Amino acid sequence: MGTPVPLHPDVESLGFLVGSWSGRGHGAYPTIESFDYDETITFSHIGKPFLVYAQRTWHATDGRPLHAETGFWRVPRPARIELVLAHPNGLVEVSEGTIDGATIRASSTLVGRTSTAKDVTAVERDFTLDANEVLRYELRMAAVGQPLTHHLAAELRRES
Ligand code: HEM
Repeated sequence: MGTPVPLHPDVESLGFLVGSWSGRGHGAYPTIESFDYDETITFSHIGKPFLVYAQRTWHATDGRPLHAETGFWRVPRPARIELVLAHPNGLVEVSEGTIDGATIRASSTLVGRTSTAKDVTAVERDFTLDANEVLRYELRMAAVGQPLTHHLAAELRRES
């Protein structure tokens, strides 16, 4: 895998994320049954000004794989974040927002869809690291005719 490299100085403000996180989330939406899920998120880097982001989830009760997403978290200038994400349900998301200490907020500026993907028009994400220990996030989306509405909330703890 090559020699480990130092974190690029432009992404030092995201350095607290680097590593693996696991935990439990709850999902809901007006059009679906609510559900609990297990989740693993890994943030890694290659010494360039972005983090490599990989997320996987499983149903908390029966263990079947659910959503996954992958992409890059970029810091184009101090205190700003850009997310470039791919989703297996035929969506790509470009989101932008702010980094304020251990709180990151991002809203989509673009949701691209394959011709068979569900109609998602906006995504909003809030992440925060509580007490230097618990990574929490919430996600809202506008989809299938609903306005921006809560879909996910999760709490993860560091694995490595
Ligand atoms: C932790 C991540 C996520 C999990 C565990 C998750 C899980 C689920 C589940 C279990 C459903 C209902 C059944 C199904 O369609 O499989 C669902 C529906 C849906 N999710 Fe998610 N999801 C996640 C993230 C996302 C994201 C990031 C988006 C959009 C960018 C999204 C968009 C949707 C849409 C559009 C539906 C269908 C709603 C409907 O047809 O009424 N999900 N999700």
